[in-house]
Amino acid sequence: MLQSVLIQHLGQHIDETVVVQGWLHTKRSSGKVAFLQLRDGTGFVQGVAAKTEVSDDVFALATSLTQESSLRVTGVVVKDDRAPSGVELQVQNLEVLHLTHDYPITPKEHGVDFLLDHRHLWIRGPRQRSILKIRAEIIKAIRQFLDDRDFTQVDPPILTPSSCEGTTNLFHTQYFDRDAYLTQSGQLYMEAAAMALGRVYSFGPTFRAEKSKTRRHLIEFWMIEPEMAYTTHEESLDIQEQLIQHIVHHVLTKCQVELKAIGRDIPALENAIAPFPRISYDEAIELLQNDGHSIQWGEDFGAPHEAAIVEHYSRPVFIERFPTSIKAFYMKPDPDRPEVVLCADLLAPEGYGEIIGGSQRIDDAELLASRFAEHELPAEAYAWYMDLRQYGSVPHSGFGLGLERTVAWICGLEHVRETIPFPRLLYRLYP
Ligand code: 4AD
Ligand code: MG
Repeated sequence: MLQSVLIQHLGQHIDETVVVQGWLHTKRSSGKVAFLQLRDGTGFVQGVAAKTEVSDDVFALATSLTQESSLRVTGVVVKDDRAPSGVELQVQNLEVLHLTHDYPITPKEHGVDFLLDHRHLWIRGPRQRSILKIRAEIIKAIRQFLDDRDFTQVDPPILTPSSCEGTTNLFHTQYFDRDAYLTQSGQLYMEAAAMALGRVYSFGPTFRAEKSKTRRHLIEFWMIEPEMAYTTHEESLDIQEQLIQHIVHHVLTKCQVELKAIGRDIPALENAIAPFPRISYDEAIELLQNDGHSIQWGEDFGAPHEAAIVEHYSRPVFIERFPTSIKAFYMKPDPDRPEVVLCADLLAPEGYGEIIGGSQRIDDAELLASRFAEHELPAEAYAWYMDLRQYGSVPHSGFGLGLERTVAWICGLEHVRETIPFPRLLYRLYP
């Protein structure tokens, strides 16, 4: 029995006879030779079946193959500098596991709704495969960065009794005879974990019942939430920019093939080098007003505002110290200016908007209690969270990195729907 080899490793088997197990992506054939574009998920390779080199049966089979038929192809690996993979497979034998009929996604153009309805098949295409590969490398880079810096992964619950980011977009569910919600953010639990383990991070799905149909919103998205004891707002920003720089560097190193396959503007990505500019909310308002926007101090930014701000920079930019009145209850006020909080949003360049939201947290029990009252939050539900300020409270900070927005920016995508294998959108729960 011949050894089967992944397409990405074929370069290590020049002049050997191997078996490739995969699917037919495309085919061209003349009366004398069939060119089979094969894919196995790890890459693409051209198989060449020449009429003079194979049996009549095999040649007939090769010319009758249809898109997405599953195959075992035996052949000799030969060097081919013109091929993107650097090799070609000279076909000797073919085994068809399943002959596909009428594969719905043809090389012609399809509408987005059609493609989303066929997402389970759409992910086989070279562009979608590349995006999912880059997503996986981004996850790897994040874990590597945090693990190397003494962070411990801690998993917060997904079913929760109360909200973290406000009650308007909670997903309600039934927990036996009680009400429960799908988590919007694991942050409050991560604060508890930081007091137990020092530097922690979570990585998991979060849910927001947001009635927004924009190119940046998903209903279910993945977040990485680092939380750090004995860490100030400024120290947290240093870690955030190092993390982003590390992710970009990792993808540029590991994913050249995929970045090319999706046509990413690579020099634009190479600009993401720390330190990133840090401007205050006040400065951002002034900048927007000078650009002719009618926004006033105290209002939150919308997507057009964020896009206008990043126009002024070629790197990611931090907007710091937002008005206390528009931010979450747990954010620590600036001691010199309590009308603003020690927080920052990191905006990605090229109009991708906020990829990180973070802050220093309130560590004073009395102030936190008064915030619960102001925000009309039920104190009993948060009693455990208050305990963290009763027993060895310390300055601490953390942030949430939205995985899909980060993937959208790094891949240069129009819409977050392509950044996740099976997107959950306002009007989409299928497949
Ligand atoms: O700014 P957010 O709401 O912050 C929090 O949830 C904090 N509790 C995080 C923390 O400090 N531990 O969300 C964080 C990030 C945003 O910057 C954005 O990248 C992403 O999560 N995000 C979304 N991504 C896709 N679809 C949505 N509907 C998103 N909402 C937030
Ligand atoms: Mg935010």
